Amino acid sequence: MCGIVGYVGTRPALPFLLAGLHRLEYRGYDSAGIAVVTGGALEVYKEVGNLSRLQEMLAGVDLRGTTGIGHTRWATHGEPTTINAHPHTDCSGTIAVVHNGIIENCEQLRRELLARGHRFRSDTDTEVLCHLIEEYSDGDLFAAVAAAATKVIGAYGICVVSARHPDLLVAARNGSPLIVGVGNGENFVGSDVPAIAPHTQRVIYLDDGEVVAITPEGVQGVVGKADLSARVHAVGWEPGEIDRGDFPHFMLKEIHEQPQALARTISGRLVESEGDSHLGGLNMTPKELLDVQRVIIISCGTSWHAGLIGEYMLEETARVPVEVEYASEFRYRNPVVGRGDLVIAISQSGETADTIAAVREAQRRGARVLGIVNVVGSTIARLTDGGVYLRSGPEIGVASTKAFTGTLAVLFMIALHFGRQRHTSNAEGRIMVRALQALPDQMRQILAREAEIAELAARFVNGRNALYLGRGYSFPVALEGALKLKEISYIHAEGYPAAEMKHGPIALIDKDMPVVVVAPQDSVYDKVVSNIEEIRTRRGQVIAVATEGDTEIASKANHVIYIPQTLEILTPLLSVVPLQLLAYHVAVHRGCPVDQPKNLAKSVTVE
Ligand code: AGP
Repeated sequence: MCGIVGYVGTRPALPFLLAGLHRLEYRGYDSAGIAVVTGGALEVYKEVGNLSRLQEMLAGVDLRGTTGIGHTRWATHGEPTTINAHPHTDCSGTIAVVHNGIIENCEQLRRELLARGHRFRSDTDTEVLCHLIEEYSDGDLFAAVAAAATKVIGAYGICVVSARHPDLLVAARNGSPLIVGVGNGENFVGSDVPAIAPHTQRVIYLDDGEVVAITPEGVQGVVGKADLSARVHAVGWEPGEIDRGDFPHFMLKEIHEQPQALARTISGRLVESEGDSHLGGLNMTPKELLDVQRVIIISCGTSWHAGLIGEYMLEETARVPVEVEYASEFRYRNPVVGRGDLVIAISQSGETADTIAAVREAQRRGARVLGIVNVVGSTIARLTDGGVYLRSGPEIGVASTKAFTGTLAVLFMIALHFGRQRHTSNAEGRIMVRALQALPDQMRQILAREAEIAELAARFVNGRNALYLGRGYSFPVALEGALKLKEISYIHAEGYPAAEMKHGPIALIDKDMPVVVVAPQDSVYDKVVSNIEEIRTRRGQVIAVATEGDTEIASKANHVIYIPQTLEILTPLLSVVPLQLLAYHVAVHRGCPVDQPKNLAKSVTVE
């Protein structure tokens, strides 16, 4: 999940490269490097560690070249060392490559190239590409990259520059995202939109198998689909949206953005008078909706937790059977899926490799696939037969927050629409519409309690384990709360259905085991309160997320974080917010790099 940037134009490339890498650091930070074509030579600088180490190395270096590439690494092949840092170069030191992905046949290619006299410096799969391109080079860099690409098996997004081609940048994509930013007299390449958005709103998402030659004038040569100009998308992000602003971390900014992000997600998509939602991108007629016999949701991580909530929503409103699958499991287990099934792929980035592969598998077997995606024009958005964009705005923090609640809102609107085609009355639908419209303000009420939650977080700082429990709609919320805590604070946390406590986990309960119980006043409240009593009798420390006005729970739990009352089906959009803040403040108390948690990257574009 490395970060890649490229620039070709009339200005010095270096400032763009460094600023672009800074915006992509969430994609990997084991090492960073740049290569600039300057005065007929190739200047390469790279350093292990995060971007600041490279910036120190470049302080005072005056690079004026107007063609260059950069890379921030999430190591897959080869230890994070300076030698293994990108860019890599060929034997002559005149061709430089940066790469995101994995070359699966790299060992075979390395052996062949060694036999032809090439000399390798690093342990990486990427360096194989440099020597392969060198092997095919006969003065045409674009043709050499295109020829080399035909020999490669695996996933790659690459940028290539050569000392012999000062105004040319070649990019190629197969499985790892790569975006061309179209400027005026200059053009940009990035592995994600944040690197490009400050310079242009016009982007082209490369497709698998495409190789492009980019000059200051534009995209000149394409191997793959023709007429890229017809694929220019408007990013739709304001530059300010990808800055932290006054927040110390992107994650906190995005937690606080949720009310306005949610308002944007639902804006223009609800018709209160009809008690229904209007989601044009579904591309499904009422009859097609009625013909759906089963829904299968495929996703990963936080998006999988959202899928579990979507299952409960759809089964409650539309009475259609729903299965939720890890995309990585679905794609390999010869799934029983086909016509009559509606598959919904959920992915904030739209670039998660396992989810992309699962989409392709479902389509290959004849199912219609919808996408619930945040990034406009991303691979899953373009692959699927229809879908709904979150409109949550850029989510930079590795820990997903506003995209989770945005996804729940979209799933709710899909469930509402499905339900209105089947069993939900206009009156019921109008109640649901009004409840969703009230959520942004209710979220603000919870966010106003941040200080109380931050203080509570201080009690977790030295924790080694935590348990998150919930029933019904709150069970996936418990899973999500546990994931948030473990991925940014490195405290081991598990989410469980509350009733499962007595089937094993209760053995873990003691005074050192904090237990977070999501216990809104809903149809299973009394059962959850019983679970809290079981924990307290074993001296467990209970933090409850409860409904405002619930005085009973205050006598049962050690600490209570209150949330406003809403429909049971919408409660997860509120009950998750305290858990996001709790995880964030525990991580901050522990001095963890919240936006760049170790070993993680924002978009898992490798399998
Ligand atoms: C969530 O906080 C994690 N960053 C991770 O689980 C993420 O949700 C998962 O990788 C799926 O990403 P996607 O939604 O972009 O497909």
